[in-house]
Amino acid sequence: MTKLAPSILSADFARLGEQLAAVEASGLADRIHVDVMDGQFVPTISFGPVVCAAAHGATRLPLDCHLMVVQPARFFEALKDAGASGITIHVEACPHLHRDLGAIKALGLRAGVTLNPGTPIEAITAVLDLVDLVLVMSVNPGWGGQPFLESSLARIRRVAELLAAIGRRAQVEIEVDGGINAATAPRVTAAGADVLVAGSAVFGHPAGPRAGIEELTSALTRS
Ligand code: DX5
Ligand code: ZN
Repeated sequence: MTKLAPSILSADFARLGEQLAAVEASGLADRIHVDVMDGQFVPTISFGPVVCAAAHGATRLPLDCHLMVVQPARFFEALKDAGASGITIHVEACPHLHRDLGAIKALGLRAGVTLNPGTPIEAITAVLDLVDLVLVMSVNPGWGGQPFLESSLARIRRVAELLAAIGRRAQVEIEVDGGINAATAPRVTAAGADVLVAGSAVFGHPAGPRAGIEELTSALTRS
């Protein structure tokens, strides 16, 4: 069963609690994706632990934080205190990637590693024995609503191969983030993705987030 992770980056922040309640009530979301951006690793600033804590107060769904920041280890404890259950960090932001993933695990959180579309997949090979999740970015991080990069399909397949080669394909989730909608969702699932992040397809849906997540689910069911 493919899991869905709505990204609050595309939510209406004046109605965040209501929108999270709608997504949770659908019964179709496995977790909430929380995009932390610092204006340095990516050009945009989104939000940090304060908004994560607000989301935690508004839903029982687990919160998975995707850190698009320089020196992400500065925020691990604050995000744990804000209710995060998982933290995913970028290989490009971490000269000490192995140590940083260990620090996430030591806090009792699920550890994820991710990489930009221009970074060779082999950059994460040395940490595949440590992680709970690999996030394949299918857009350049920084903004919601960008078109899906077709090259991501081969990258998902490559991650699946590397995990299988070390006997960890069943333990490590492959997640995809960027440009996921009713058309791309079945294609990334066929390539091997286990978890799909979706921002604008859920929170930007004209009929509301519940309709957005229902539409994604039916696209997956039909395929
Ligand atoms: C982009 C973020 C994504 C974003 C995806 O930098 O990492 O999580 O919310 O948005 P959509 O689903 O609209 O491409
Ligand atoms: Zn993200």
